[in-house]
Amino acid sequence: MLKFSCPVCGNFLYQDDKTYKCERNHCFDIAKQGYVNLLQSQQSHLKRHGDDKLMIKARYDFLNGGYYAPLMKTLCNAVDSYLPDKASIIDAGCGDCYYSSSISDRLSGRNFDIAAVDISKDAVIFAAKRKSSIKLAIASVFSMPFADSGADAVLNIFSPFALDEYRRTLKQGGFLFRVIPLENHLFGLKEKVYDKPYKNPAEELNINGFKLAEKSDVKYTLELNDSESIDNLFKMTPYYYKTSKKDQEKLNGLEHLQTPVEFSVLVYQKY
Ligand SMILES: C[S@@+](CC[C@H](N)C(=O)[O-])C[C@H]1O[C@@H](n2cnc3c(N)ncnc32)[C@H](O)[C@@H]1O
Ligand SMILES: [Zn+2]
Repeated sequence: MLKFSCPVCGNFLYQDDKTYKCERNHCFDIAKQGYVNLLQSQQSHLKRHGDDKLMIKARYDFLNGGYYAPLMKTLCNAVDSYLPDKASIIDAGCGDCYYSSSISDRLSGRNFDIAAVDISKDAVIFAAKRKSSIKLAIASVFSMPFADSGADAVLNIFSPFALDEYRRTLKQGGFLFRVIPLENHLFGLKEKVYDKPYKNPAEELNINGFKLAEKSDVKYTLELNDSESIDNLFKMTPYYYKTSKKDQEKLNGLEHLQTPVEFSVLVYQKY
């Protein structure tokens, strides 16, 4: 069973009604939506706290449209087949918990436990709308509020890569499930926005201290036939804020978009 650990002293946090407390009496209130803020004050000076509400809402609405369901199914199959019963799972950089909620449905009856962290308060608020059984905290993936070697699995789905923390929190033999975009991912969207669209660079697949157990690529053509979904897709990507107003406006009123979507679901085992 995963317990949060105190971001001040590192001891376990125990739930006492609407508060988490450690044995040294550091207290963290549980918000009415059910999450706890475990972000340390020195971390809260970071300029941007992950994705903002506009991006999170766009992703929440887009994912609810089922457009990434093939990825979700591939990921659920992998998690289901590799994890033992009673698994403890950390969703690191969970966003609105679209994928971990589906994993929670898939593993139902197997006595598992999921805790999720994101540095964005808006993300955990949207995540709380999906699943009350996932324990939610505002925290950085680079300093996760979990004890060493307590997790059977960590999910790193389009979130910042925090290798030292995956190594620290996973048990020996535990699994890292990683999802990355491939070369042509969203190229059709980029072609509409940029004069010179670029393909994604290939990512390094070898991870020190981990063995790659499986790589499943998911590739298909996504067809969007309404401007709202196209707008949501653009706003949920990191491209949105990096794009000039002039280029952003190229999508205004666009009713149809065809684009390749390409992901890799990577399963690593810690040794
Ligand atoms: C592209 S989104 C992916 C969200 C979710 N895993 C999904 O696939 O739907 C990346 C997420 O990482 C979060 N994030 C960015 N930097 C972070 C950090 N240092 N610690 C924790 N979360 C972070 C963002 O707030 C955002 O929710
Ligand atoms: Zn403490």
